[in-house]
Amino acid sequence: MVTDTPTGEETPFEPALGPDTLAELESLAALYPEARSALLPMLHLVQSVQGRVTSEGIATCAEILGLSDAEVSAVATFYTMYKRKPMGTHHVGVCTNTLCAIMGGDEIFDRLCSRLEIGNDETTEDGQITLERVECNAACDFAPVMMVNWEFFDHQTPESAVEVVERLRAGEPVQATRGAHITSWREAERVLAGFEDGLVDEGPTAAGPSLAGLAIARERGWSAPSYETDAGTGRAGESKAEAEAEADTQRAESETVAEESPADTKGGKGDD
Ligand code: FES
Repeated sequence: MVTDTPTGEETPFEPALGPDTLAELESLAALYPEARSALLPMLHLVQSVQGRVTSEGIATCAEILGLSDAEVSAVATFYTMYKRKPMGTHHVGVCTNTLCAIMGGDEIFDRLCSRLEIGNDETTEDGQITLERVECNAACDFAPVMMVNWEFFDHQTPESAVEVVERLRAGEPVQATRGAHITSWREAERVLAGFEDGLVDEGPTAAGPSLAGLAIARERGWSAPSYETDAGTGRAGESKAEAEAEADTQRAESETVAEESPADTKGGKGDD
């Protein structure tokens, strides 16, 4: 496994930040009324070029934004998506937060550790895969979830997860279950910096379980409360709190009716 932090010397895998990258970093800083607001995408851009947040990257961002190296470093070491150690070609994140863990996330992670012969936050000897336990990715309805370069792989099993990493290591095409085909962690970092790769519409996004609530709401006539005041409706001056209270009452009434209907008394998954 690869765990050492390199010396900081320029290598083919960690090139210096060239004029094109410097121009892009400057362009990000110019997007915001307060330049320092650009720090997060700038750090992603550094990672897309150098494979991690290097000391050079920290100093460069600091200089462009008029911050101290310590301020930039504090941000780069606070958020887990910023890496100080060199990353593999692909980042594989297994969600082992509560729901995914009990649905099999821990088993997936253990199986990958054993197959790849690495532990958490380590990279395979061939430099292909960096494995990490990750927190909830807001995809609990597809648990257990694995992320590859932040693309979703839903409803994983230890076997399907191993198949994905083996295909990645072999350089074979891999398609996310919700999202685009897999490129590389560095390319994904460039997208996170705000530079589109043209793949935003590739693959399904919202699907199945995520849309179930919407279908139920439509079926039962639920809608989000409107906060607009409209003299024509006689509800002028209605406050947000009043609108929410009314919506809650309507929802509760609707639920009571639904619970009392014979069609809903069976309940359970098999009735979906
Ligand atoms: S707990 Fe895994 S996506 Fe939420």
